[in-house]
Amino acid sequence: MTARIIDGNALSAQVRGEIAQRAAELTARGTQPCLAVILVGGDPASAVYVRNKVAGCEKAGIRSLKFEYAAEVAPDEVFARIAELNADPSVHGILVQLPLPKQFDAEKILEAISPEKDVDGFHAENFGLLLQGRKSFYPCTPWGVMKMLDTENVPVKGAEAVVIGRSNIVGKPMAVMLLSRGATVTVCHSQTKDLAFHTKRADILVAAVGKAKMITGDMIKPGAVVIDVGMNRDENGKLCGDVDFASAKEVASLITPVPGGVGPMTITMLLANTLESAERTAK
Ligand code: GUN
Repeated sequence: MTARIIDGNALSAQVRGEIAQRAAELTARGTQPCLAVILVGGDPASAVYVRNKVAGCEKAGIRSLKFEYAAEVAPDEVFARIAELNADPSVHGILVQLPLPKQFDAEKILEAISPEKDVDGFHAENFGLLLQGRKSFYPCTPWGVMKMLDTENVPVKGAEAVVIGRSNIVGKPMAVMLLSRGATVTVCHSQTKDLAFHTKRADILVAAVGKAKMITGDMIKPGAVVIDVGMNRDENGKLCGDVDFASAKEVASLITPVPGGVGPMTITMLLANTLESAERTAK
C-alpha cells in the first residue's frame, strides 16, 4: 500500500481563506483582529517562525505588532511590555516566541499573558481548561493536527492513538485532545522501553520528538494514519521530519509530509485563535 499524502499547504490555504473572510467582516464592523508577537534574542529559527507568523497575519487581514529585544534584555522590560499589551483593548492575541534566553523564567512570562489573549494556549489556566474538556485556546500545533484528522474523516473515537513526545507545546496537549475525542491514548517518550511495541499498535501515530527519521516503516501498523510534527535537518542538511517518509508511506494509509504537512497548520491555527479572541471581544 502507498499512503495518501495529507497536504498541509492546501488545507492551510483553505482555512486561511475562511479566516481572512471572517477577519474582513469583523474589521468592517470596527474591530480589526490584532496579534502582538514578542521575540527575544537572535535565534535564527525563532526569527523565521516569527517572520512567517507576521506574514500570515498580514495576508489574512490581521494586524500584527512585533516587539524585538536583544538576548541580554532585562526580563522586567518584557514583563512591562506584556502588561501594556494586556491592557490594550485593540490587541487580541499576545505571543512570546520560545525558547527564551536563560535569564528568563519562561513559565512566569507565559503566565503574565492575560489568559483571554493567550492565543498560543500555553497559559496554565488555558491548559487546565483543556484538561477538563472546557473551552480554552487550544495550542496551535495539536489543534492543527486535529483539524487535519477531521478533514480527512479519520475516526478518532475508539482508535488506538500513540503520541511520541511529552512536551507542553505538542505531546501533552495532543494526547489530551485525542483522549477528549475518545481515542485510547499512549504517550511515549525518551524513556519508553520498547518504542516499536507501542507504535506498531497505533491506528493514529503522532511523532513529535525532534529526531530525524527515527520512525521507520517497520514500526508502523499497516494502514495507520501517520502525523509527523518533526522539523529536523537530515545528514545532507535537508528539512525532514521524525518519520522516515520513504519507508513509512509504503505502510501507512495516510501520512503528512515534511515540509508541507503539520508546519503550515500551526500558524493557521494561531490566526484562527487570534480571530476568535477578537470575535469574543466584539460580541
Ligand atoms: N516555539 C516553538 N513552537 C512555538 C509555538 O508554537 N509558539 C511559541 N510562542 N513559541 C514556539
